[in-house]
Amino acid sequence: MRTQVGIIGAGPAGLFLSHLLKAQGIESVILEARSRPYVEGRVRAGVLEPGTIETLGRLGLDARMRREGLVDEGLDMRFRGRTIHLDLPGLTGKSVMIYGQQEVVKDLIAARVEAGDPLVFEAQVTRIEGIETDRPRIHYTEGGTDKVLECDFVAGCDGYHGAGRATMPQDILQVFEQVYDFAWLGVLARARPMPDMTYTNSDRGFALCSRRSMQVSRLYLQVPADTDPNSWSDDRFWDELHARMFDEGRTEIEEGEIFQRDLAKLRAFVAAPMQHGRLFLAGDAVHIVPPAGAKGLNMAVADVRVLSRALTEFYRTGSRAELEGYSTLCVERAWRVVRFSSTLTGLLHKFGHHTPMQRNLQLAELEYIAGSRNAQASIAEQYVMLNYLPDYP
Ligand code: APR
Ligand code: PHB
Repeated sequence: MRTQVGIIGAGPAGLFLSHLLKAQGIESVILEARSRPYVEGRVRAGVLEPGTIETLGRLGLDARMRREGLVDEGLDMRFRGRTIHLDLPGLTGKSVMIYGQQEVVKDLIAARVEAGDPLVFEAQVTRIEGIETDRPRIHYTEGGTDKVLECDFVAGCDGYHGAGRATMPQDILQVFEQVYDFAWLGVLARARPMPDMTYTNSDRGFALCSRRSMQVSRLYLQVPADTDPNSWSDDRFWDELHARMFDEGRTEIEEGEIFQRDLAKLRAFVAAPMQHGRLFLAGDAVHIVPPAGAKGLNMAVADVRVLSRALTEFYRTGSRAELEGYSTLCVERAWRVVRFSSTLTGLLHKFGHHTPMQRNLQLAELEYIAGSRNAQASIAEQYVMLNYLPDYP
């Protein structure tokens, strides 16, 4: 099989890239190791920055998001029984959209399949060769048969464990990583959600109340990294959530049937450069952020907005200028986003190694934010716009 751009991975990065390229008349083939139900069933975060919303709109793929998504205009942070309310439109003129990543993935897959564009599921990429030539080849197995996809360019959108980053010359690749010793135990519950996205820092640990609809809450608790998500009873989850949200009277947070559980490990990770020869890496393949900033999906989309424009310039004019600048632009933005997400994580979580001094410094920072519109505006603008690159709408 042959195409212009071989895309590895049908997560947000690979799917958005395929649609952005098609909008410019550039052909691609997506090779995805997992099955369609598996990919569409992965529950992840669900906050879309305006840039991501705009890209979906420009691709004509925003109809269901506009119907079912929830505009989120408030970001609350609780501590010491108090709430800091960040009025996102008031502070930034913008808001975010809550719409599950798996819903975005379903919409992008459906559009690709409906258009009859090549998206091969259960196609495990095993090797990528020739990235320093103008004819790279992607080796994969499908149905027990070894196959090869010949292409002009390879887009490694295959996540943290993918083949893309593994193909980078190891003497060139630099990796920066911090792994946290706690995780997020996430649930979906049939319960009326909190009106605003609410994060909390309590002596018992972090919690987050988000939502997927007006009938479904998306809730998270900080837990030890080795927690078995099924080891927590529903009662234990609700007890801990009420306590951490300072809802001792259990009057504010509505309980309901928990029908989905998952555990998200927390790490901050950057790999650079994000390109070599005809191989370009995007999304979780080259950066991962702790989820406190809700940035993972938006970072992946920001990468491929840059990459699709660079590939378009190449195919239209033969110029490689934007292709050569891809990694520099995206690595710099990735560090900005990793810094913000890591800072929020440091502000809101309980750290076992914290001394009483460090705990009080954490609370003092929250007190400062509570009293400073400028500090609130800084958090708000990073929460809504950190991945926006004005020249790459
Ligand atoms: N061959 C083919 N496909 C592969 C291979 C391989 N060798 N390795 C991984 N994949 C696929 C995975 O099955 C997955 O569907 O690549 C896809 C990568 O998707 P994501 O991990 O979702 O990464 P990305 O598209 O960059 O999106 C990042 O997704 O995981 C969340 O929190 C993350 O929000 C962030 C977003
Ligand atoms: C979510 O709705 O899943 C969500 C919201 C905010 C975050 C992370 C996840 O920081």
